[in-house]
Amino acid sequence: MATVTLNPLRSRGTISRNIYGHFSEHLGRCIYQGIYVGEDSPIPNVRGIRTDVVQALKKIGVPVLRWPGGCFADEYHWRDGIGPKESRKRMVNTNWGGVVEDNSFGVHEFMDLCAQVGCEPYINANVGSGTVQEMAEWVEYMNSEGDSTVVRGRRANGRQEAWGVKYWGIGNESWGCGGNMRPEYYADVYRRYQTFCRTYGENRPYRIACGPSDFNYRWTEVLMREAAQFMDGLSAHYYTLCGDTWANKGSATDFTTEEYYKTLKRASRMEELISGHDAVMTRYDPEKRIGLIVDEWGTWYDVEPGTNPGFLYQQNTLRDAMVAAVTLNIFNRHCDRVAMANIAQTVNVLQAVILTEGEKMVLTPTWHVFDLYRAHQDGREVDCAVSTGTTGTEAWQLDRISASASEKDGVYTVTAANLDAEGEEELRLTGIRFSQAQARVLCGEIHEKNDFDSSPVTTAPLEIRVENNGDAVLTLPPCAVAEITLS
Ligand code: AHR
Repeated sequence: MATVTLNPLRSRGTISRNIYGHFSEHLGRCIYQGIYVGEDSPIPNVRGIRTDVVQALKKIGVPVLRWPGGCFADEYHWRDGIGPKESRKRMVNTNWGGVVEDNSFGVHEFMDLCAQVGCEPYINANVGSGTVQEMAEWVEYMNSEGDSTVVRGRRANGRQEAWGVKYWGIGNESWGCGGNMRPEYYADVYRRYQTFCRTYGENRPYRIACGPSDFNYRWTEVLMREAAQFMDGLSAHYYTLCGDTWANKGSATDFTTEEYYKTLKRASRMEELISGHDAVMTRYDPEKRIGLIVDEWGTWYDVEPGTNPGFLYQQNTLRDAMVAAVTLNIFNRHCDRVAMANIAQTVNVLQAVILTEGEKMVLTPTWHVFDLYRAHQDGREVDCAVSTGTTGTEAWQLDRISASASEKDGVYTVTAANLDAEGEEELRLTGIRFSQAQARVLCGEIHEKNDFDSSPVTTAPLEIRVENNGDAVLTLPPCAVAEITLS
């Protein structure tokens, strides 16, 4: 038996809805085919954007979407993606598969996508191969109402009012594909670029500096020391691999139970990563004004056999659902520092919530986790102490239960995952006298997945009882994640 003890008097604050954000890059079949099929496609669409995908994203309440990359962002020139489609510049996507990018999905199409989904845009500007002027004019194009040539251009392209884009990333992975810079150099570059990321009227940009990869605390230290006063957010990227090298990341579907635990153990290191970067940030920003923006996270396996290695297409099993459950619980518990997170990536790439094949669409187990966690968005985080045994193997030992909790209008939501591959676990929720309880669960054998011919993985109601003392008790099946609603 495991116990989750809620303490409603202790909270780290509000869980920003943006923790449930997504990331869509011009990579493989994420944008083209996955999101954008063009107006002439037989696949139902609104102005070229797939209706089925938009509906699926709306259902999980996607709050914010990062675009156009990733590595692609530092080769993207926004002016190539505006104006009549037939005259848009063609380029080769050198980062991802060497395919032709015809720029038919550009700035206006992205903003249309965000409007259809009902989410905020988060634009990652080009620092690596762009100029300050190019970025400054992109901000102006999106946010200004002035009568400038740039704004007249927007109006000529069909958009009268400024969109008022709030979230701006200044470079992506500037330590790697974004320019291979040293932190000292990037800190100065960042200071310069952000100066020209201007406020227009009420539209004050939330400026996000490129942060560290993984556990590179030195990068965070230098950025905070040199540029903290100029930033609103600092990004961080962390991917979970199962294999031990980038050449051998492991299979998405063919893995042993040992590898299941190894993957979850590695995903759980998000706790150490956030605590570590938070500690560095706190030395310079004790008020926690600057948000840690985990704008790339998720599993990264070898591509599905027979697919383009540059497209990063991978299947998604219950193991991925458990990675998402553990990670989102960690973000919730660190909501005082984590202001946004963006799973990589929305459709057909890495730990996707949606897979498509022609007109067919599949909701992955990871999509269902976002569905189960939706109630946490903008909830007040509630401290929950988890008393649990361990699971895994000698080499990959981890807590059996992962949980987080929030409250809205007197209703508590606890999300709890049983990471054990084979054994069920009784769970007692205590600390508050509850009178009502409901639960939904996603569970199954660790390899189970949804595919284009059958989608067995879905949520189902889970039995839960409230005892005379006000505790709620339920049994979590093996490899399960549940949303528990209590009042
Ligand atoms: O998400 C795939 C790639 O991973 C992104 O383009 C890059 O930022 C990261 O290395």
